[in-house]
Amino acid sequence: MHSLLDISSLSKENIATIFDYASSYQKMKCDSILQGKDIVIAFFESSTRTRCSFDLAVKRLGGNSISFDAQGSSISKGESFIDTIHTLNQYDVQGWIIRHGHAYAPHILQQETQSMVINAGDGSHQHPTQALLDAYTLYSKWGSLEGKNIMIVGDILHSRVARSNIQLLSMLGAKIFVSGPGTLLPRFLPNITIVPTIHDAIHEMDGVIMLRIQLERMKNGLIPSKREYARYFAINEAMIVKHDNLLVLHPGPANYGLELSMECMNHKNVLIREQVKYGLYIRMAVLKHCFT
Ligand code: NCD
Repeated sequence: MHSLLDISSLSKENIATIFDYASSYQKMKCDSILQGKDIVIAFFESSTRTRCSFDLAVKRLGGNSISFDAQGSSISKGESFIDTIHTLNQYDVQGWIIRHGHAYAPHILQQETQSMVINAGDGSHQHPTQALLDAYTLYSKWGSLEGKNIMIVGDILHSRVARSNIQLLSMLGAKIFVSGPGTLLPRFLPNITIVPTIHDAIHEMDGVIMLRIQLERMKNGLIPSKREYARYFAINEAMIVKHDNLLVLHPGPANYGLELSMECMNHKNVLIREQVKYGLYIRMAVLKHCFT
């Protein structure tokens, strides 16, 4: 049994196995590997895609999911994170899938339980299954990521998706570029090319990953204005049409009109819906990797 707390715990072989499992689940739809197993899905932060796909993944693999949502739980009566963990641990569950607003909360959970833990997003730190599904979406189109140029655009500073993707896509042989307002770039970005605006390098890219501006993680206004942000860091249909082979990803939820224009949604090279679909197969695959 393995936990998945961050991308650095995965080898290239693990990633290849997870992709193989995902492509077989794409055909096979169900399995019984989690039969008799109880998995807590504990979300201390909002989610639609990650939470629903993990819930469905556990069910499609024959397991029982126990959903814990911080809103409406005893957290609102003052119960602490650690007390919540120990309360649910009394049910002898075999696994935890956790999202939390604080970086390293899944690592703290792992210290308190013998069960398997999957990180479904911790603060601005890591979101390993999102990176796996992003890479799998690109891999499904290209067959290999080796030598591909991929630009991650927007709020890199607050993005756990960016941090996990920079690690994972680099491991798979892609060259990573980032572009975003100076206030939204981390100070330390090893082996990454920083591009002033999306327009400066879009013509050299095979793929772009657009990120949501994480207003909930910003203390002060870190962008001058939404209109100015869109001018330098958004993508629109004309740009996509001009760059014929460019694939566009966004982890969602997208702010249409800010990170990408509304009419992009239906373009064949904008893979947002494929990402959601593959997210289910990847999460089934990650559960199989973690439990075998
Ligand atoms: C991402 C997240 O929660 O980090 N969303 C997701 O999991 N699909 C990205 C975001 O919220 O911007």
